[in-house]
Amino acid sequence: MVYDYIIIGTGVAGLNAARLIPKDKKVLMLCKKAPWECNTFYAQGGVATAVDKTDIEPHINDTLVAGVHHNNIEAVRKLSENSRAGIDDLIEAGLQFDKNAKGELAFTKEAAHSRSRILHADGDATGRMIHMFLLQVCPHTIQTDAVVCDLLIEDGVCYGVQYFTDETTQKVAYAHQTIIASGGIGSIYKYHTNSTAIAGEVQGICIEKGLELNDMEMMQFHPTVFKGTSYARKPLLSEALRGEGACIVDDDDKRFLFEYHKDGELAPRDVVSRAIFDYNKKTNKPIFLSFKEFDKTYFKQRFPNIYANFKDLGYDLPFERVPISPAFHYAMGGIAIDTNAKVKGVKNLYAVGEAACSGLHGANRLASNSLLEGIVYSKIAVEESLKHPFEIVCENYTKPIKNYIRNQTIDKEIKNNLRKIMWKSASISRNQNDLKTALIQIDTFLKEDVGRLLFLRLLTAKSILTSAIKRTSSLGAHYIKEN
Ligand code: SIN
Repeated sequence: MVYDYIIIGTGVAGLNAARLIPKDKKVLMLCKKAPWECNTFYAQGGVATAVDKTDIEPHINDTLVAGVHHNNIEAVRKLSENSRAGIDDLIEAGLQFDKNAKGELAFTKEAAHSRSRILHADGDATGRMIHMFLLQVCPHTIQTDAVVCDLLIEDGVCYGVQYFTDETTQKVAYAHQTIIASGGIGSIYKYHTNSTAIAGEVQGICIEKGLELNDMEMMQFHPTVFKGTSYARKPLLSEALRGEGACIVDDDDKRFLFEYHKDGELAPRDVVSRAIFDYNKKTNKPIFLSFKEFDKTYFKQRFPNIYANFKDLGYDLPFERVPISPAFHYAMGGIAIDTNAKVKGVKNLYAVGEAACSGLHGANRLASNSLLEGIVYSKIAVEESLKHPFEIVCENYTKPIKNYIRNQTIDKEIKNNLRKIMWKSASISRNQNDLKTALIQIDTFLKEDVGRLLFLRLLTAKSILTSAIKRTSSLGAHYIKEN
């Protein structure tokens, strides 16, 4: 059987695409682990939108300033101009955002936004609420534990995908159109805020097929994650906390961010992450997020999940401050698409959300533009695919279907080394020597007999390092500190 669509990934971008594809189409949705193992589920702060027509230009401007004008302006404009319609469409479908006392949508502020324009749901569980809503309304079947290991591409046409359903079983599914919505690359780094299912494998497949990836050196580090757990995935302390008054302090309660940027805690994310990193290195002092300005009742009501999670971790918020550090958060770079979400060089392949790179985020993503990107660009991809229907002829795919080995015994050690290497050499502050040494190490790993999934992850890591080496001066999240 040939599906009309295959969607790889079931975060906001994949699920919203599924919602918008006409119900009579045959759609296969592939989800790597359980449906909630995606970055959407963990997104706290909110979803940005131009509040109304008069806010489109300011929203565009804030996105460009945060992105250090490395952005693709057409992609930014498309996001902002379609933002309110995308949000209203979800609200009409039944999604509920938090409201103020007057019953109006409650917009909040986050760093580098010139006004309050962030919507949130269940206080600080915006991603989870959007995700649950989209799962509830999803009209198509989701196949879980489906780990994509190849795209069947020949002569500029995508015929479908190959995927593991367990350690050894592999299946092939064919489709007229394929949408990649598989998310970013978090597990390539030692410390991150991402779901553990997110490891950049589909980006690796695209590299192998000779497709273009863009801006791979542009990796974002969230400034405020909790330092006190031993897991790679670190609990996030949403940007919205700073938007509403939380401060970054050292152990003497000194607010040092103004020494780095006039907007202090509300400076763009790359600036805040770098300042924390630098201040800690210079002074050797621990850094904290302080909630002194908050009233307890308000805090509990506005940030109920952060309050409860940190209570479990032994912190009584807002009275106690919490030790923080930056950690990897978001990939601005990804599979090169045009502003219609079409993967460059393939007729019937689309990529949306964090996996994709239209140049929208530039060198540093503006807070809360990522859920919005998933919503807006998934709609664009579906509309475009309906406007330009494409039919594959399966017999025209002549390449052999390979039998991959998913994991090898040597993988675990190499995976751990990879994470450490990427954290040391390709994170908040970089230098050419470390990047080049890291690239040699990754090339050595690539020569080993590693499993298919690690091989793909290594290709993606290599692309981050290669892009970072090519950009010899600092720009946004790519900060080069000379030796
Ligand atoms: C946060 O809540 O700080 C994360 C939001 C985002 O990454 O845009």
